[in-house]
Formats: sequence, C-alpha cells, structure tokens
Amino acid sequence: AVFAAYYFLKIPLISMTTTEKRQVLPTNVRPTHYNLTLLPDLKEFTFNGTEVINLNINENTKVIILHANDVKVKSAKIVSLNLKTSYSHEAVDISHDEQKQTATLTFPHDLPAGSTAALHLVFAGYLNDKMVGFYRSSYKDELNQTKYMATTQFEATEARRAFPCWDEPAIKATFDITLVVPSDLVALSNMNVISERQLPNDKKEVKFATTPIMSTYLVAFIVGDLAYVEKSTTGAQNGGKPVLVRVYATKGQENNGLFALNVAADVLEYFAGVFGIPYPLPKCDMVAIPDFEAGAMENWGLITYRTAAILFNPKDSDAKFKQRIAYTVSHELAHQWFGNLVTMDWWDHLWLNEGFATWVGYLAVVKVFPEWDYWTQFVTDGLQRGLQLDALRSSHPIEVPVNDPSEIHQIFDAISYYKGASVIRMLSNYLGEDVFLAGVRRYLKRHEYGNASTGDLWKALAEESGIDVEEFMSVWTRVVGYPVLNVTESDPNTLCISQSRFLSSGIVGSDEDTTVWWVPLGIDLGSNVQSDVRNAVLSKKEEILKLPHRADDFYQINARKTGVFRVNYPPERLAKLGQAVKKNLLETSDRVGLVADAGALALSGHGKTSGMLSLIKEFEDEEKYIVWMEINSRMADLLTAWFEQPEHVYQGLHAFRRHLVSKLVRKLGWEYSDSDDFLTTMLRTLVIRTAGKSGDPDVVNEALRRFKLFTSGDESAFHPNIRGAVYEIVLTYGGEEEFDFILDAYKNAKTADQKIVTLNALGLVQQENLIQKFLHFAISDEVKNQDIIYAFAGLQANRKSRRQLWNFVKQNWELIHERYSRSLVLFGNVIKYSIDLFASEEDIRDIENFFKDKDTKEFARPLKQSLENIRVNAAWLSRDKEDVENWLKNNGY
Ligand code: BES
Ligand code: ZN
Repeated sequence: AVFAAYYFLKIPLISMTTTEKRQVLPTNVRPTHYNLTLLPDLKEFTFNGTEVINLNINENTKVIILHANDVKVKSAKIVSLNLKTSYSHEAVDISHDEQKQTATLTFPHDLPAGSTAALHLVFAGYLNDKMVGFYRSSYKDELNQTKYMATTQFEATEARRAFPCWDEPAIKATFDITLVVPSDLVALSNMNVISERQLPNDKKEVKFATTPIMSTYLVAFIVGDLAYVEKSTTGAQNGGKPVLVRVYATKGQENNGLFALNVAADVLEYFAGVFGIPYPLPKCDMVAIPDFEAGAMENWGLITYRTAAILFNPKDSDAKFKQRIAYTVSHELAHQWFGNLVTMDWWDHLWLNEGFATWVGYLAVVKVFPEWDYWTQFVTDGLQRGLQLDALRSSHPIEVPVNDPSEIHQIFDAISYYKGASVIRMLSNYLGEDVFLAGVRRYLKRHEYGNASTGDLWKALAEESGIDVEEFMSVWTRVVGYPVLNVTESDPNTLCISQSRFLSSGIVGSDEDTTVWWVPLGIDLGSNVQSDVRNAVLSKKEEILKLPHRADDFYQINARKTGVFRVNYPPERLAKLGQAVKKNLLETSDRVGLVADAGALALSGHGKTSGMLSLIKEFEDEEKYIVWMEINSRMADLLTAWFEQPEHVYQGLHAFRRHLVSKLVRKLGWEYSDSDDFLTTMLRTLVIRTAGKSGDPDVVNEALRRFKLFTSGDESAFHPNIRGAVYEIVLTYGGEEEFDFILDAYKNAKTADQKIVTLNALGLVQQENLIQKFLHFAISDEVKNQDIIYAFAGLQANRKSRRQLWNFVKQNWELIHERYSRSLVLFGNVIKYSIDLFASEEDIRDIENFFKDKDTKEFARPLKQSLENIRVNAAWLSRDKEDVENWLKNNGY
C-alpha cells in the first residue's frame, strides 16, 4: 500500500495485470444479433431451443468458443452472410467444458476474417429448481393445486444456462426472442409482443420485438398463468411519450400489485427527468415470482421480484413492507438507465450499477414519500451496513478484480451496494446534487447503449463541476476501508484532527495505516454561525482546525452524516453532545450518527461500551423511529455478543432496554389508526417488539391476551403490523402449543410478507425439541429454498438456538449443500446466517476445522468475513465484559 499516502497520484486498480486472469471468451468472433426461439416444457421441466446468431468474424478461425452451462449444443452450423464468400459448414466437433462453462465448436474450414456469418444452433436444457438460468417456479393456485411457471435469472453469469451465448456484460447485441408455449399461458420477454400464432397441440408461438443493443445478463423471459394490473405514466418527463407499466402476478394475486404499480409509474417518470433520457422501451413489466433467489432483478423491460418485494395487501400486509417495495421498485427502475442503458465494462465495476442504483433508489423514494425521511433512514440502514463490513480486514475495495463466476457473485455485498451508495452520497453532497445529476446525465448520454467504467463517471462529473473528481475519489473506490477521525481540543476553538483506518478489531498497525483519505469534514457550528470552516476538507494525515468564536462552544463533525467515516471525540465533547441530544438540539440524522459511532467505537475498543450505554441513556425521551432503529441495532449487537454471559448481566441489559422504551410503549398503545403518520406506525411496532422481547410484563401479557383471542378465531386481535412482534413474544414466553399454532399460521399465511414474518418469528422458539423440529421443517419442502434465510436469521438471533443451528448445519451439510449451493448468492447468506453471531475463539476453531477439508471457493468471502466478525465480538467481549457489568450495577440494572 505504498501508493496510498499519495492518493493524488491516481491509484491503479490493484494491478492491471489481473485482467489476464479473467475468465473471458476469445475475441476471434463477436455476436451482433441473436434470433432465439425457446420451447419450454412445463411438465417435463425441460426446454429445447434454436438460435441463429449473427457474427462478425474478426480473425481467420475454425473454432468458435461461447458460453454454455448445463445446456447441450446438439448441432451447429455456420453460414456465410457475405454474398461474395458464400459457405455453409456443419461443425465437425462440438465439445462442452463444464468447468469453464463453455462450448467449443470446430468447423472444417477457416471462417475468413472481416466477414459476417450466421451461427445456427440447436440445443436443449433443463428447467431447474435452483432459481438460476431458465428455471421453474411453483405455487398453489386459487384451487390449491400446485402449478408451475418458467422464468429466468441471469445476472451475473447464468444466461449461459438458458442459451449458448457470449455471456459478458461488454459483449452487447440485439435480440429477437420467440417463445413457443401452451396456448392458455402468458408469455413475456423484455420487449412487447409483435405477433402471436396458434400452433397444433394447444401451443402458440409468441414473437417479441427486437431489443435495443444490450448485455446478455439482462435478457429475460417468463411463461405462466399470470394476470396483471396496469397504468400508463403521464409521459410529461419522457419526451411526451407515456409508458405502459404492468404488474404481473400469478392469477388472483394481481390486485396486490397496485401499490408497486403506482410507485413505479411515478418513479419511472421521475427518472426520465432526472436522467434526461426517455425510457427507451415501449413497456415496463414487473413480475412477482414465487421462487426468487435475490430481492429483485432489473431485466430490461421485464423486472422480476420476490413476491414480498412487490405484492402488498393493504388489509393483511405489514406496513414495513411498503417501504421495502417502494425502494426495491425504485432501485430496479434506476437500473433501466444505470446498468441497462449504460453497463459496466466488467464486473469489477459492479458498484457502478449497484452503488448508484442504491443511492438513486433512495433519492426517488424521498421524492415520492417525503414523509418517510428516507435519507435519514439511509444513515442507519445503508451507511452503517457499508461501514460495518468495511471495518473488517476481510473487506475489499469498491473496485475489485473478479475473474470467474464464483468470485463475481460474492461481491454483491454491502461494499458494492452501501459503501458505494455512501461514497456517491458524500460526493453528491460535496458537488451539490444538481451538479452531480448533471454530470450523471452527461455520463449516460455519452455512453448510452455502451459500456463504461468508474473513471468515465468521474470524467463526466469533472467536466460538469470543473473539479478533478477522480483525484480525490479514487482513494474511496480503489482502497479498502475508511478513516476514523481522532479529535483532540487544545481549547474549544482549536481542534487537532487526525485520520487513521478504522478497523472493528481495534487499533491498526502502522503498515496498514498508510492511506490518506479525502474527507469533507462537514463542520456544523449551530445555525447562526457563518464560517468557511463548514467547507473544510481534511486531506492530510493530521490537521489543526481553528473554529470561529461561538457563544455556546457547540460544534459537531460530519453534519447530517453525509461523510463516510467515524468521529472519535474527546470524552468531554461526547458528553456535551449527549446533553445536546437531551435538549433536542441535534437533527435526527446526527442523533442516529452519534449512536452509531459510539457503538462502532465501543466495538473496536476506541471507546468503552459503558460510554455507549451512557450516551444511549440520554435518549430516554427520543421519539423518532429512525433513531430507535439505530439504538435497537446497537443494543442487539451488544446482546448478541453477550449471549452466553451470566444471566444477571444478560437480564440487566434487557432491563435497561425495557426501561428505554417503557414510556413510549405506553404512550403509543396497541391500536393503529389510518390517521397515524407512517413513522409513528413504524415506531409503535418497534417499541412493542422491543419491550415485549425484553420482558416488559404489561406488554408480554397484552401480547399473550391478544394471541389467545387470535387463536380462538378473532382475526382482528392484533394488527398485521405487529403480527411478527406478537409471535416473537409469544414464542419467547410460550411452548409447544404456541409453536404448533404459529407453524400452522405459517403454512396458511395469506400474503408473502406474512410468510416471511412468521417464519422469522418461529426462529425464536425456546425449547430444544421444538428448535430441532423447526430446523427440520426449515429445510423441508414446506419452506421454499428462497426463504431459508428468514428461518436461519431467526434461529441465529435466538440465543437458545444459535448453537443448535450451527450443529444442525454441520450434521446436515451434504443435504444443505445439495439444496442451496447452486443458488450462489443465497448460499453465501446461508453460511453467514449459520455462524456469524458467535463470540469466542473456540467457535472460530470449530468453524475453521469444519471447513478445512471442504471446497469453500464459492463462499470464501462471506466465510472469511463471518470468522472475522466472530473474532471482533470475542475481543469486544473480553475487553468490556466487566465494564458493562459495572455500568449495569452503577445504573441500577
Ligand atoms: N441486480 C440486482 C439483482 C442481483 C443480486 C442479481 C444479486 C444477482 C445477484 C438487483 O438490482 C438488486 O440489487 N436487487 C437487490 C434488491 C435491491 C432493492 C437492493 C436484491 O436482490 O437484494
Ligand atoms: Zn441492483
């Protein structure tokens, strides 16, 4: 890391030679157009396909290599498209390389360089149930019959499972897609239908319009018994051209798509304006898929979603899911420009797609739902997630070399999404949002229908702003980590600020602390002091900062928490900020940030956990939901690491927690009213859950009372918003009867969000035999593979089942591996949720020992990160065990 101290010297991407290790296809030929026909068989779960691919022949060659994975090329023929050099050759050899995921076609004669040719392929594959490639998804229809649909998930490298292709993001082409399907089903693809023709045997042939030039990972097609709701955008921002938006779901579910539909129509219009380019397709379909690995996927013109990320039932759904849906829709619509129209060159620039879509997704939600205070929510659920992962030695730079499919999928993580979005937010705040967005428009226009990399974005932003953006941003995207600012005061107006890398495992060694970040300080001096110091940037290792005279001596750093760093104040200053909280002098986002930094610094040992607890104590009168989210998550981290501490300590922490929310829970009560604002609704749910799980007797009794009514048939005994909280409380204090009832409730859940909430709550079951029963249930066919993570997350959070869960995973490894490992992103989470929350060196040894003789390539990153999290927790615990015990004693808990 020698270069890092001189960040202005343009930091190279680790090493330029790493591109040589990329698993990419030879450049001898390149496709320009695919004419693709697929015939899925929803009874046999197979498909047949034919393809005519137009190629540019760049070099004289007999051999064509293209991607194919689990699809078998049965015949290949190449036909000249040049009139002068006409030829037609059957391949003399077709071979498949499973490991490289390629097919190699060998022809008898050279194809001449400079010519164009059409490659005719016939192939066949299997509609798998692993949620990747071209796959089947099952559901119960309105008559409770099991039905199947076929759908696709191609990002990052799975298009090659559906049809042989050049499956790299920079190899763009146009597509003509034809589907041959049962006459009574709906067939969808990226583009609109241009013709439909009846065929014998109750089949029809559906042809779609030619796509714009695009990457393979964004191609999609779906066949199923679907119904829709629809709405047109106004078109006002879209060059006057309305776009037809539809939400599709399995028949009978479509009306639950109305909320997402309305959001989408607003956001699509908004983005056309923000990005300055009309949405280029004639329609935008969004489809709820019963089995879906990720949350949603931005296929151009045919966006796919997990059902819980798009369907909302105003009567039966939990309000929390509204936010998730609105954000998911916004995020995926953002990709229609950022990702689909302009695509990253290669996956090491994945953050351009995901970090940007995350940032602009928040921007759109703020626009459509200003009352949600969504940027402040970003500080707790976005910024903190990025900072948390990036505080590990096993983190990675935002721009990271990735060479093969197993490496690529592992960077769909909090760095690409949340550190990426946080860095963009910091930059946008520095340049001004208007200038920033103008730069984005310039970037999109320049690269539309093409590919770009991080440097291209910086270049456009520099042109727009007149500032050399790359000079100070490369350190943020090319170097791992971020700084903590250590502040000392020689007098209240003279600050000495130094920066060093922040690691959750504590103080860094000098050889890992050579980076100098560019840090816009965000100095806040209170509202009536004007001073240039507000714009100060720290660009050295250490600097003295003079503040102007202020009557009250108030200041804080990183106002509104737009910067990507932590601040370590002197203890007296932290105490003063605590008083400012009490006097309600800080903005919501600053209160969130204060708690977050105190929590992170306690974990790392920069501060004491007693200091964090004392600060949190100042929040007794706090009434903002978003601040409570942060307090709750820091207290949960503490309880997690302390899970095997003596009972009086563990219960003392719960008593403190109970005390914190006791006023609010009484004030807010149990009834939800339509006139409540959204954040009050969310706050009520949060405090009931927290008070109940921490053992507030009134809340526990009320939960038990209402549950009793519920079990005797009173569906209105509690609001859907607190279904999860009530289940969790009841399971924490109940036994087999409650467990069985809630298990049944899971099986009969009416909405997708109810299923998730219930499955997650079931993880709180306390009795060993019931935990065992639930573990077996969780990996049975009763739970969709996509939902295993909710069960595991619940079981892991529960201190009674945390060890049982990991033992179960070890004992059933083969089965679990077979069941989930082909869904690469999902499987990384399965591993993480099995081990992430332990807090001892023995556990680390046990886990390492278990994986010693196993191939961990596909989940190496999450495994390493989990192990480091455990190490961090273990160190925290041994450092502050007594500190916490003393604090509890001294404060009467
Ligand atoms: N492009 C991703 C989908 C994806 C994720 C594909 C992982 C392959 C691997 C999509 O835009 C996305 O980011 N989805 C998120 C939800 C979103 C609201 C943050 C997801 O699936 O978690
Ligand atoms: Zn995304």
